[in-house]
Amino acid sequence: MTDHSTMTTSVSPISDLEVDLLVLPTWIDDDLSDVPGLIEACGGALENARTRGEWSGKPYTLCIAALTTSEWRASRLLLIGAGDGVTSTGQVRRLATTATLAGRSRRVSSLAFYLRGQLDCREAGQAAAEGLTLGEFDSGTYKTENDKHRIQDFIVSRCPGVDAGLMSAVKRGRLLGECSNEARALANEPGNSLTPTVFAERAHSLAKGTNLEVEVLGPTEMEELGLGMLLGVARGSAESPRLIVMHHRPEGAPKAPVLGLVGKGITFDSGGISLKPADSMERMKDDMVGGAAVICAMRAIDQLNVPINVIGVVPATENLPGGRAIKPGDVLRSAAGKTVEIINTDAEGRLVLGDALWYAKRCGATHLVDVATLTGGCIVALGTITSGLFGSPGVWVDAVRRAADVAGDQVWELPVFDEYKQQIDSEIADVKNAAGREASAITAAMFLKVFAGDTPWAHLDVAGTAWIDEARPYQAKGPSGVAVRTLVELACASKSWA
Ligand code: BES
Ligand code: MN
Ligand code: ZN
Repeated sequence: MTDHSTMTTSVSPISDLEVDLLVLPTWIDDDLSDVPGLIEACGGALENARTRGEWSGKPYTLCIAALTTSEWRASRLLLIGAGDGVTSTGQVRRLATTATLAGRSRRVSSLAFYLRGQLDCREAGQAAAEGLTLGEFDSGTYKTENDKHRIQDFIVSRCPGVDAGLMSAVKRGRLLGECSNEARALANEPGNSLTPTVFAERAHSLAKGTNLEVEVLGPTEMEELGLGMLLGVARGSAESPRLIVMHHRPEGAPKAPVLGLVGKGITFDSGGISLKPADSMERMKDDMVGGAAVICAMRAIDQLNVPINVIGVVPATENLPGGRAIKPGDVLRSAAGKTVEIINTDAEGRLVLGDALWYAKRCGATHLVDVATLTGGCIVALGTITSGLFGSPGVWVDAVRRAADVAGDQVWELPVFDEYKQQIDSEIADVKNAAGREASAITAAMFLKVFAGDTPWAHLDVAGTAWIDEARPYQAKGPSGVAVRTLVELACASKSWA
């Protein structure tokens, strides 16, 4: 979807950048002294803007001015406020997204983003490329009259002569941004077009031109393997379930570690017999965000030649209340052999993930991470800014947290103390699939922990962060692409897992 635009780097003097819009971060009390001649090149417009208070440097405020001298090749200048200064790569990513969104609304066809500040050239360059690319996402795919504007050419630039790997960093950031946008496109797809079967086909097409191996299991294979929880959820729907499995097996990879990525792939969650209220039910088309994150991260992991074995597992099904649907009180047998009493058919995510975690371990995964829009309770706890992070042991959870920090996905850890396990004990079976309202994000994680067993495991609950309800200056409304970059950065950081 981003294949019509280009992104390059430049280390020539800033005045030589020939673009419609030249974007620079600015800050409070900024005098632009590191960019000689720029204030003069605007012919008084910036001084005026300062006096009016338009050029303030306050976070994400925009100040636009024409470049009036012929010594500067760019047509217009956009200053974006960075508050007290550009001090983190996360900030660069957001400023860059703001730049693309602003450039699109001004219908420019070329944009240069100039890195200022003391940040590491590579890290800032990657973040800028990610942010610029994230700004390109368009959610209006089904509009018959779509007037969304696309920018054709992007340039990431910094001080003349200072390259230090800027080019490769920008390529990496571009890839991560594109894979995030692919995941957003999948999340945005309606339930009637993205069925489990179509989801699997999309995984196949995303693997085209890569070295990934894709395996797709249907109901017959699931039956043979005994994936009773996944099949149980699928019973209420006329759509056939799929277990999407992707293998990244680079030549010369060590036997261990093997990273297992598991993503919830409910293509529509009506709640099943425990039917959800109609209000906002349409949002439940995105209950496959975790699966999309895994599939799109696998593509990036292949493209980056990550030197370890990685396996992606996505259990895909609808959760509907058909005549053969599972009912509260039913007991299912999981692939791991544990029996599960169904208390609430709307707690379907943990069921399909339990079997998928088992499958990832069976394929040799030594380290597990799952991503899921799992609980409303996580939204109550952390809102829409932060994803819930759970797992054990602590060193593995720390590795996932570090990757999320690099990726710009905000996470916060919640506990999985053994004492919580009692809340999902069942009278009739080994465990039950739902406890009460108390600590519901944690009891959902406790259920997954039963199936992760002794294998290092981390769980990201992205129920609140998968979808942006209100646009922010640096983030469009709609699917966020959460967790894609976290999974990729985690795979890249295998040397520092221990
Ligand atoms: N997909 C939902 C979680 C969800 C809710 C995501 C709202 C995004 C927004 C999940 O399958 C679910 O229904 N969870 C229930 C579990 C409960 C019945 C134990 C929940 O959290 O309410
Ligand atoms: Mn549900
Ligand atoms: Zn769900």
